[in-house]
Amino acid sequence: ENGSQDTKHLRVKLVLLGDSGVGKSCIVLRFVRGQFDPSSKVTVGASFLSQTIALQDSSTVKFEIWDTAGQERYASLAPLYYRGASAAVVVYDLTSKESFQKAQYWVKELQKHANAGIVLALVGNKADLDNLRTVSTDEARAYAESNSMFFTEASAKTAGNINELFEEIAKRLP
Ligand code: GTP
Ligand code: MG
Repeated sequence: ENGSQDTKHLRVKLVLLGDSGVGKSCIVLRFVRGQFDPSSKVTVGASFLSQTIALQDSSTVKFEIWDTAGQERYASLAPLYYRGASAAVVVYDLTSKESFQKAQYWVKELQKHANAGIVLALVGNKADLDNLRTVSTDEARAYAESNSMFFTEASAKTAGNINELFEEIAKRLP
């Protein structure tokens, strides 16, 4: 115990991007409230939530989370949310090849226009639907590695790897 002198309290703007229906809002709801909504509504525009986590050294990270709308009609709004962000989570649905293609589009856009030094994570959501998988772990991991991104497969439904995702991002922040 070394008092509060060198415990950091970071505030982090984080944005979630990815195709409509991949489970961005469910990931946020799981992380922030510990809940899952099987009849989650399509996001309109974007929604904002925050959640603070404590790290092992008792420093804290407050995530200010922008959960964007994945429907194509909202794509032009995305820069409003990723501008100035310190972290971005690009989500695809591991039962949807098309959503994996879309994730790659968002990665490129972030590489071109987001903050230099932004922490990028690629998440294959719906890992509970492994029997319906169309995107292999190896393919996604190789893509993430070649783009210097953290990669995980997760499930908002079962909570698998959701907290771990945000903890890993916190550790990678400068
Ligand atoms: P937009 O707001 O349109 O961009 O979509 P979104 O990415 O926010 O998707 P949302 O979180 O609303 O989830 C879409 C659907 O997928 C809902 O029916 C969820 O219940 C379902 N879903 C989300 N996560 C999971 C998961 O981990 N497993 C399973 N089986 N279903 C999930
Ligand atoms: Mg949503």
